[in-house]
Amino acid sequence: MPRTKKPKFQTLTGMHDILPDQQCYFYDIYKKVKSIADFYKFGEITTPIIEDADLFSRGVGLSTDIVKKQMYIFRTKGGEWVSLRPEGTAPVARAYIEHGMHTLPQPVKLWYFGPFFRYEKPQAGRYRQFWQFGFEIIGEASPVVDAQIIQIFYHIFKDLKFQDLLIEVNSIGDRQCRPYYKRLLVNYLKSHQNSLCPDCRRRIKENPLRILDCKDPRCQSIAASAPQIINHLCKECHDHFKEVLEYLDDLDLPYHLNPYLVRGLDYYTRTVFEIFASEEKNDQEDSEGFVSKNALAGGGRYDGLIKLLGGKDTPACGAAAGIERIIEAMKHRKIKPPYPQKPKIFLAQLGKKAKRESLKLIEKFREAKIPVASALNKDSLKAQLKLADRFGVKYTLILGQQEAMEGKILIRDMTTGRQRITNIKSVVREMKKMIKL
Ligand code: HAM
Repeated sequence: MPRTKKPKFQTLTGMHDILPDQQCYFYDIYKKVKSIADFYKFGEITTPIIEDADLFSRGVGLSTDIVKKQMYIFRTKGGEWVSLRPEGTAPVARAYIEHGMHTLPQPVKLWYFGPFFRYEKPQAGRYRQFWQFGFEIIGEASPVVDAQIIQIFYHIFKDLKFQDLLIEVNSIGDRQCRPYYKRLLVNYLKSHQNSLCPDCRRRIKENPLRILDCKDPRCQSIAASAPQIINHLCKECHDHFKEVLEYLDDLDLPYHLNPYLVRGLDYYTRTVFEIFASEEKNDQEDSEGFVSKNALAGGGRYDGLIKLLGGKDTPACGAAAGIERIIEAMKHRKIKPPYPQKPKIFLAQLGKKAKRESLKLIEKFREAKIPVASALNKDSLKAQLKLADRFGVKYTLILGQQEAMEGKILIRDMTTGRQRITNIKSVVREMKKMIKL
């Protein structure tokens, strides 16, 4: 008989399961993000995981790494080209246009929390499926909004107990001043093109700004003497950025002006920023051995995106943070999220009738919002008491065959070992008083 090979399935490269003991990090982050979102009156939006692929090629930009190399793109049976969403801003902008949100009082403030997909080279802090939360303020051009987005992200990280945050900011101009700066930059880069890495040689034509944050030391040394956009902003962009920095000063936020910060998505105009946990040992070597830091969050203004996607000319600003990266940084700092409520009571049972009564009793405890642990699969009292000890409960309720017949139950104080008997009918009420809920 031919031997069949045992199948062996694993998560795909760059994807991971979130096991029960990891979920508390997700709950903690979600809870803190939601509480800030509620305070600042952001409405939660959930967009589909799959979108028209063109939404991203247009929105994020054809020449970006995300669109060029990292999209999970495929053709449906109906023949449409669709993509797993690599980011959340283009879908939110699409939703803003599709649902006519320009008719609502402006700005429209939205936030989201969910999985995203990029076909990246997997490394620590870089996954193919990862989670993000993001905040978007659409319909407001004032620089105060840029500062508020930065402030919101900073305070989310503060609430998550990060002490060592660093904000990097820059302005990359707008369609008035950026074309002129791009020409200056391209002229400069062309005169050094033989010393650039192969990727950046291609970028001179397609996306010269990205050369400024290339991690290859050859490109970095050329970028160090390149003209800086900050010195070539038009008056409007200059004034806008100055005001953003003044707000950040007023808020006492620890920011640093990084003239090489350009971000990897084409929709940005004016302010761009990233947030790092500064003492984190999160320097990452990429496949070519170049060291880069993993940002916890990044964002900026994108005044042209809504129009580019078919809407009205609408200014906007936002940011997103990577949840796996936050969790890794929390673990690195030994920041532990609060654990789900631990049970203070264990219910042990002996015999079939007691098992049946236990099922009903557990439900009564749930209705009274009292967490109770049990092991209905176990028959031995010794094994159940051992488990009760492991849970560290204060009381164990013991329901034997005899007690179940008489409508009684034993309450055992696990610290003193003392026991007393009571009625099943009143045990929930009594326990509530005893554990002072
Ligand atoms: P982004 O910088 O591409 O921006 O991603 C934001 C954050 O998502 C990053 O700072 C990082 O923490 C996390 N992240 C990105 N890629 C990965 C990955 N492969 N594995 C793990 N984490 C990752 C955006 O996505 C923009 N949509 C942000 C934005 C919102 N701009 C304006 N509004």
